[in-house]
Amino acid sequence: MIVAEQLTKRFGDKTAVSEVSFTVQPGKVTGFLGPNGAGKSTTMRMIVGLDRPTSGSVTVNGQPYVRSRAPLAEVGVLLDAKAVHTGRSARNHLRAMAATHGIGRSRVDEVIELTGIGSVAGKRAGKFSLGMGQRLGIAAALLGDPHTLILDEPVNGLDPEGVRWVRQFVRYLASEGRTVLLSSHLMSEMAQTADHVIVLGRGRVLADADLSELVRAWTSNTVLVRSPRLGELVTAVAGPDVTVTAAEPGTAEITGVTAAAIGDLAASLGIPIHQLTPRTGSLEDAYLALTGDAVEYKSKEIS
Ligand SMILES: Nc1ncnc2c1ncn2[C@@H]1O[C@H](COP(=O)(O)OP(=O)(O)OP(=O)(O)O)[C@@H](O)[C@H]1O
Ligand SMILES: [Mg+2]
Repeated sequence: MIVAEQLTKRFGDKTAVSEVSFTVQPGKVTGFLGPNGAGKSTTMRMIVGLDRPTSGSVTVNGQPYVRSRAPLAEVGVLLDAKAVHTGRSARNHLRAMAATHGIGRSRVDEVIELTGIGSVAGKRAGKFSLGMGQRLGIAAALLGDPHTLILDEPVNGLDPEGVRWVRQFVRYLASEGRTVLLSSHLMSEMAQTADHVIVLGRGRVLADADLSELVRAWTSNTVLVRSPRLGELVTAVAGPDVTVTAAEPGTAEITGVTAAAIGDLAASLGIPIHQLTPRTGSLEDAYLALTGDAVEYKSKEIS
């Protein structure tokens, strides 16, 4: 379990993380989301003692991580600034890490196997591609068979097979009762991976909820309707809580009324329906609604 209380980090006059409190529960995958610069990596660095909080505190299993006696068995960490700029081979890099933490060589071979870098383990880690470097970082995080995993953008640069492997693997680790905190900007992937999500925006917690709850709270269900007599149907459906947006000619997206109600109404009026598709909101929809005002580096909209 990771517990952050009023965690704050300032860099000069920039407040990167501001009074952030949350609990990351064991047995679940917790997604850590937020726009660029929101403070996710800084928070993760504070959890493992790489950045010192300006104020507030954070503990892993009840104590500050830096006091842990077997740190690699306690917490496995992959931070996005991983650059293993080393002349050592991947295997030797892992062996050196293992040796300084009293971990046997057989575990090194295990994590190499697990992360699929066996064929390149003899190559210099500095020459690895983005994805291979990422796999090596994950291998390092797994070395101590840790109870808690903190992974900052672990799927960044991974190929589809690697992305799926990370998803299945972290879900498996959580099912074993471990604590998993992982950040990613890939909402569709996060939607399939996380049980719970914490969303940061400009250094503050914008949301901390179960994934399904968050999606329900921040999206509205719409129904896509296609009909040759759409105008009549839209007039009949109109109400104070109903919004209708035109999609393409002959189709509309209707919010505020169920597909069943629209179908019944159309039947009672004898209006033919060519399509009636309920659409539930996605994590991406919820995320964009939630962080709309907290995005610091906004891209130009294409219209
Ligand atoms: N060492 C540092 N010195 C000064 N400012 C920093 C430092 N580290 C982070 N920051 C600033 O703190 C803020 C939060 O950065 P952080 O890297 O935690 O964001 P993030 O949520 O991980 O973003 P991204 O999604 O882009 O990885 C940013 O404004 C960043 O510029
Ligand atoms: Mg980051």
